[in-house]
Amino acid sequence: MPTSNQPEVLRLAVIGGSGLYRLGLGPVIATHQIATPWAAQPVCVIEEQTAAGNVLFLPRHGEHHTLAPHRINYRANVGALQTLGATHVIAINAVGGISPGMIPGRLVLPDQVIDYSYGRDHTFFTEQHSLAHHIDFTNPFDLLLRERLAASIKLARMEYRIGGVYGCTQGPRLETAAEIRRLYRDGCDIVGMTGMPEAALARELGLRYAMLALVVNRAAGMGVGDITLDDIKAVLQQGVDGIRVVLGHCSTLLLAS
Ligand code: HPA
Repeated sequence: MPTSNQPEVLRLAVIGGSGLYRLGLGPVIATHQIATPWAAQPVCVIEEQTAAGNVLFLPRHGEHHTLAPHRINYRANVGALQTLGATHVIAINAVGGISPGMIPGRLVLPDQVIDYSYGRDHTFFTEQHSLAHHIDFTNPFDLLLRERLAASIKLARMEYRIGGVYGCTQGPRLETAAEIRRLYRDGCDIVGMTGMPEAALARELGLRYAMLALVVNRAAGMGVGDITLDDIKAVLQQGVDGIRVVLGHCSTLLLAS
């Protein structure tokens, strides 16, 4: 971390979820394999060059997209980004839409999280207890990043919603209709499986982190009929192109300022 009398050097990282396996903003200048204390395997992070500066890209589900949400090593991923000097992290997440208006194809910049996941290694603080380990998480997503993302979505002229509660379920199965009704009663607007503990781990390491979510289906019982993988894939394919445009604008706004 920079010391307080040094200006912060912004180093941007993107964590890609389902459908976004390559950043594609510029030429690849390095493929890092980062060893961490949290995993036997190194974490693959790809570095691309853009006109505004270099951007790191970490495929959340692993180099070969094989890790289910509950098997992702979130500590190794977030730790690897810190090792590479990342200061700002944009997380891309495919989600189901719960509340009205959360329809397939819509981008969402959530501002809150409810964590329903369990059994995941969710903290870097595994040693002796200290009060410093109780990080503030009142607002889980970084305001500046969310503002820049909102400006970038406007530039890309895409449908979006600012604000909303992201519910993180365990997966890998999708939810039952009753589970989704419960999430709705709890106040969740969207549901996904990979937002936590990633966001909290980033906060523990002092990384600025925000989520850009793409609604790829109506959540269980909120749409017509069952959820099909083919429908999700079709939305993902289109949505990911838009997300790339947004990320292009956002990296320029962040790195050039
Ligand atoms: N539920 C949980 N995670 C998801 C969904 C969903 O409906 N769609 C995409 N990721």
